[in-house]
Amino acid sequence: MSIKIALGSDHAGFELRGEVAAYLEKGGFEYTILGCREGESCDYPLVAREVCALITEKKADLGILICGTGIGISIAANKIKGIRAALCTDTFMAKHSRLHNNANVLCLGGRVSGSGVALEITEAFLTNEFKGGRHQRRVELLEPC
Ligand code: RB5
Repeated sequence: MSIKIALGSDHAGFELRGEVAAYLEKGGFEYTILGCREGESCDYPLVAREVCALITEKKADLGILICGTGIGISIAANKIKGIRAALCTDTFMAKHSRLHNNANVLCLGGRVSGSGVALEITEAFLTNEFKGGRHQRRVELLEPC
């Protein structure tokens, strides 16, 4: 069964979103694009909500969110129950966000990471799986108190 991915960006992540979409297309992933259209300016918290809704409604397995720095959109995503968003600037972070944190959303900064690095980060995120075990308890403790 293929992984379903929800991919969204604001205007500052628009260009990188196109690169990530091309990567997903080439890799045969099933994906949905949400957020800003070309030439538009839009609010990253709303894009985060749209993408995360697909995950919490189980219409997507994983999300990828892109804004200028990746910071705003990751803060917004992490406000949503059931979402574990990881802002990653290298492949080690992306890999471990899956292995240890069971992150279900990858956040990227379109003004921070070049497309080569961002695509390798994306690959690391999509090709690693949660290890469970002692990490399961810690992930459960991440839920809002
Ligand atoms: C938009 O200009 C920019 O503020 C946004 O993309 C993001 O970087 C916020 O964290």
